[in-house]
Parts: sequence; structure tokens; C-alpha cells
Amino acid sequence: MPHIIVTGAAGFIGSHTVDCLLNSGHTVTGLDNFRTGQRANLAAALTRPDFTFHECDVARPGVLAALAAARPVDAIIHLAALVSVPESIAQPALNHSLNIEATFHVAEAARLHRVPRVVFASSAAVYGEPVRLPVSESDEKNPISPYGAAKLASEAILLGHAAAYGFVVRCHRYFNVFGPRQDPASPYSGVISIFQRQYRESRPVTVYGDGCQTRDFISVHDVARANALATTASHSGIANICTGQGTSLLELASHFARRHPAAGSPIHAPARAGDILHSIGNPSEAQRTLGFRATVTVESGLAELGAE
Ligand SMILES: NC(=O)c1ccc[n+]([C@@H]2O[C@H](COP(=O)([O-])OP(=O)(O)OC[C@H]3O[C@@H](n4cnc5c(N)ncnc54)[C@H](O)[C@@H]3O)[C@@H](O)[C@H]2O)c1
Repeated sequence: MPHIIVTGAAGFIGSHTVDCLLNSGHTVTGLDNFRTGQRANLAAALTRPDFTFHECDVARPGVLAALAAARPVDAIIHLAALVSVPESIAQPALNHSLNIEATFHVAEAARLHRVPRVVFASSAAVYGEPVRLPVSESDEKNPISPYGAAKLASEAILLGHAAAYGFVVRCHRYFNVFGPRQDPASPYSGVISIFQRQYRESRPVTVYGDGCQTRDFISVHDVARANALATTASHSGIANICTGQGTSLLELASHFARRHPAAGSPIHAPARAGDILHSIGNPSEAQRTLGFRATVTVESGLAELGAE
């Protein structure tokens, strides 16, 4: 059975990726320090004999390399990160350590222990405000936060190692991921989980600006499947992991409002400085290189969350 290491395994995307890999017959080693992840997310995985979990900090030199040395690894899926844009602005040194240095340790573990593939969680944040819509991988990258810059730098570190030392790296630029286990308690969480919690509590949601901002919402189940697919890729590359469809925040609010009329109309607040207006990805590269196409619509994804 292929053996895959998943960093950030107890997180939102990590735990779904672990479940997806286990359900398709892989042996998985999960790593997490519970900085933002939760052990409860791994409830199903922890009952499986083909899953091993290590509580550890992947930003510490040698941690990942020691695990890769202990047992042959077919791929590392690197999801552990400081995930909040505002936190990266408030703490750029921490962002550098958790997002850039940690990625370098992943690249080194792959080099030293001949791991044939690395899958990296990059982000649409590398584009900043896209120069055109839908945005493609080769379009201009203008990150507007330390977080976006760290994702772009991490891609370069991994691709440089891959070319020099002969392994495959797949960089996945996720757009707005949503689905079960996204933490609504975090002020930095995805808008869908924040809206869901507020509508369930019959509280009106706050829409910043006119609400016409669009986002490319992709289900975490599709993202987990893309991660699993990339563990057998034969060539390095970068791909948007997105649907190609934009949904405005007002459209999103109206999906919820249909089921939660007691919550009242959204409250409008001034647009937030630095918020990107439109973010929609071109999904064709992921389809061409990985055979990946998103299958979950926003409507069915919301239905799974109990929002519809
Ligand atoms: N959720 C999205 O919409 C989205 C979009 C683009 C990119 N991403 C990227 O996807 C990845 C996963 O994000 P998520 O949404 O699942 O967030 P998450 O916070 O749920 O998951 C991140 C996980 O990494 C763990 N972690 C952080 N630093 C660690 C360290 N030094 N050592 C060990 N574990 C550590 C956290 O405890 C957490 O479990 C991240 O790299 C994030 O930047 C997410």
C-alpha cells in the first residue's frame, strides 16, 4: 500500500485528505501540533490500523526528515501552515517560520530520503487582485500579504528542489474551500462557516461592502480528492484547485436566508481594506495535468452542511 505523510492532518483540509486516502487504500501517517487543528477531526482515522498519528511541529528542523527516514514514504502532502492572512500581517516572523521555513524542511526531507512526490497546499492568495478572470496559473502574481508571499515563495522552494534533486512537486492553489469541520469559531474562518453559524443562531450576517464580491467556492471533498490524485502525478507543476464558477456574497446570503428567514436581512458594513473584489480560478490546468474536475456544487455543498 502506498505510504503517504500528511502534515496538518488534524486540520480542516488535512483531516478530509486523510479520510480520502485511507478510503482509497493508502497507509497514512498524519502530523499535527494542534495549533489550529482538532483531534476530533481525526475521530474516524484514529480507529484505523492503517493510520498513525504524531503530534509534532513540522517547522522544527529534522522532525519530518526523521519520520521519512524511519519508513519509506511515497508522498508528502504538506498542508500544515499559519493559515490566516490577518495573522500573517500581524506576525510576519511567525508566518516566515511556519510557512516558508517549514516548507524548506519538507523539501529537505524529500531530498534526503528520496520521497518521490510532494503535494503542497498553495493558495489563490498568490495572485492578489487577479489581473483577469478567471485567473490562470501563468497570470501575474501580486501577493498583498505575507501569507500570499509565503505561499509563492514555498512553491519556488519546492519546485527548485524537485528540479535539482529529481522528485515531483505538485503545487495546488486552492480557492475558497468550504465544507464540514471548518472552524466557525475562528474570526478568520471561511465566509461559509461564519454565515452558517450566524444563520443557525438566527443572527443577521455582516456583508462588507456591497456584497457583489465573488469567490470561487470549492468543496473540501473535491480538494481532498485532488490531493489524493496528485500523489501519483508524473510531472511537477502548479494548478488552480477551483471550480471556475463565481458566487457573490449576496447570492451566498440568499441561499442561507431561504432556510433561515428568522435571521433577517444581511447588515452592510464598509468594505474592508485589502479585501479582494473578485476571485475566480481557471480550472483547466488541473483537469489537463491531474484529470481533476470539481464535482460538488455550492448548492449541494451547502445542503451537506445543513444550510439548504
Ligand atoms: N481553507 C482554505 O480555503 C484554504 C485556501 C487556500 C489555501 N489553504 C491552505 O490549505 C492548508 C490547510 O488549511 P486549512 O483550511 O485546513 O486550515 P487548518 O488550520 O484547519 O489546518 C492547518 C493545520 O496545520 C496544523 N499546523 C499548523 N502549523 C503546524 C506546525 N508547525 N506543525 C504541525 N502542524 C501544524 C494546524 O494545527 C492545523 O491542523 C494550509 O496550508 C492553508 O494555507 C487553505
